[in-house]
Amino acid sequence: MKILSAEFVTSAAQSGQFPRDGRPQIAFSGRSNVGKSSIINALLHRRNLVKTSATPGKTQLINFFLINEGLYFVDLPGYGYARAPQAVTDAWAPMIEGYLKGASRLSAVVVLLDCRREPDDRDRLLISWLRQYDIPAIYALTKADKLNRQESEHARREIAKALGLPAPLPLTSVKSGQGIRELLAEIVKSIRNTDDRGQRTG
Ligand code: GTP
Ligand code: MG
Repeated sequence: MKILSAEFVTSAAQSGQFPRDGRPQIAFSGRSNVGKSSIINALLHRRNLVKTSATPGKTQLINFFLINEGLYFVDLPGYGYARAPQAVTDAWAPMIEGYLKGASRLSAVVVLLDCRREPDDRDRLLISWLRQYDIPAIYALTKADKLNRQESEHARREIAKALGLPAPLPLTSVKSGQGIRELLAEIVKSIRNTDDRGQRTG
């Protein structure tokens, strides 16, 4: 997929505000600071389309980006930021579950996991929702450049094992570019599968 255009469309908290024009959507999820916004920029070859931050908890609404006028990339709020206000923490689960249930034509959710961290409860909750609502998941480990080869090979097996997923999980890095093209290929494949199955709910 060649990226011809990518533009911010809207921020939303509730299903009434989500785009409903029938274009397929790909959502990006994962804990705060895992690198959701960075990987969206890398996939789109944009430096700053999506705001990234060294301070976790930056993205607290669901942000929709229209790509090639044909599909949406959806940046979901992160979780697990210890210093987030309680109201933000409380809002996370209903907001994300509401999106997963209410999104129209959700082709897949890209589940990002930091290669240096053990998965936590909310990673597991998210994955259980994807199964419950029958939403295809694309798994990727982020920040592979932070580990040496042996450590990263270990991580892609251990994290898969901890979550009961097929090993090894794919490694990505926005610094080195590792795995970014392959991730885009997986995304394109999932959009084709949605087309074949017809419209998902919505
Ligand atoms: P929230 O919006 O707070 O949920 O965070 P996020 O998941 O969108 O993370 P973001 O993309 O803002 O990245 C968080 C920090 O990690 C930033 O300082 C990024 O520069 C850094 N980062 C993201 N991806 C990589 C990577 O592949 N390698 C390295 N070394 N740093 C990365
Ligand atoms: Mg972000």
